[in-house]
Amino acid sequence: MTREEFQQIYGIAGESTAIKEIAGTVMQVASTNLSVLITGESGVGKEVIAQAIHGASLRAKNKFVAVNCGAIPETLLESELFGHEKGAFTGAHESRKGFFELADNGTIFLDEIGEMPLGTQVKLLRVLESGEYNSVGSAESRRTNVRVIAATNKDLDFEIRKGMFREDLYYRLRAVSIHIPPLRERVEDIPILFNLFVDQVKKKHHVELKGISPGAMHRLETHTWPGNIRELKNLVETMLVLERGDLITETTLDKYLPIRQSNSFLPVQLLNKTPEQAEREIMIRALIELKNEITALKESLQSSVQSGMVIVHPDGNKSSGTPNLPLNISIEEAEKILIAAALQRNHFNKRKAAKELGISERTLYRKIDLYKIPFDSSYEKLFM
Ligand SMILES: Nc1ncnc2c1ncn2[C@@H]1O[C@H](COP(=O)(O)OP(=O)(O)OP(=O)(O)O)[C@@H](O)[C@H]1O
Ligand SMILES: [Mg+2]
Repeated sequence: MTREEFQQIYGIAGESTAIKEIAGTVMQVASTNLSVLITGESGVGKEVIAQAIHGASLRAKNKFVAVNCGAIPETLLESELFGHEKGAFTGAHESRKGFFELADNGTIFLDEIGEMPLGTQVKLLRVLESGEYNSVGSAESRRTNVRVIAATNKDLDFEIRKGMFREDLYYRLRAVSIHIPPLRERVEDIPILFNLFVDQVKKKHHVELKGISPGAMHRLETHTWPGNIRELKNLVETMLVLERGDLITETTLDKYLPIRQSNSFLPVQLLNKTPEQAEREIMIRALIELKNEITALKESLQSSVQSGMVIVHPDGNKSSGTPNLPLNISIEEAEKILIAAALQRNHFNKRKAAKELGISERTLYRKIDLYKIPFDSSYEKLFM
């Protein structure tokens, strides 16, 4: 199989030197049992690469179990990974299989490995070295044959220096290490990915697109993409659904790219639309405006905080930069909207979103799970 065919099969789009090298490495190491550590910013494609490694391995017919170590409460992570016995802890009414048992003969993908507590790291090191583990509450060792792929957007060297990550585990995990550079460092992939996502969205939403002007493409190529490929994919989806077939120009992009955002009302073209389509567009526009307002509020709050100025409302409360949410919604609904908006605003960077919301990353993960906020989506899916 050529590298081009391999990339095609496993959905790894891109022709930059970095992506070609990564695809080459994946082809070489897939069939081995070596652990792989994948690093890179949020949205660069770490999970895509992990899936390709599993898919091209001899384990492909067995399970690929993805575990987000940041999303599971610390106290539960160990029993989720290794299982537990009946009565092992309060609430353990039945014994339960862990992910390492479920993934036997397959691959386990430990996402956000930087979030794993030190105690669990010791146990992970043991499985990596001997294939042995104990389920929680059991004195009996079990064996498992699992290939471990880990991913993180944290700087693990720094975590080691802080004493938050074990150095021995780090070296054990990075038998093969793959770093995926951010999209802004592989500009030549931008048109390729853009065209790929356009084709996907056309099929998914049955929409057309006349094309994109050279100026607009240049704008995409010079954007910094803090949310990387996920941000580009979301942009294409939102833009195509809303622009319905029109040529994408720089003016179109002004409406969707975070910089040069305007707060002016976006006109909604309602002619030749069914009532459902029109209603949907108005709602989506309203949500985009809500997002713009939140961003503007935050920015003004941040600049006033930076300049040492605190906004005080007539009732004496300090402004928290909270958007004007409808008053007739539940706290859960409001929380969901605030979280979704913060994720969008931070280009799906969970760490930044959590910081902005004033909650821990782990709490944010839990809420994303709880409210089923689609992590990889357009405004539509996020809010409706
Ligand atoms: N090379 C690629 N070709 C096509 N699509 C890609 C590529 N890389 C990533 N994507 C798409 O971009 C989105 C983000 O990718 P992925 O979830 O793998 O990123 P990630 O690095 O795991 O992000 P996070 O750190 O936030 O978990 C997904 O929808 C994925 O399908
Ligand atoms: Mg991921």
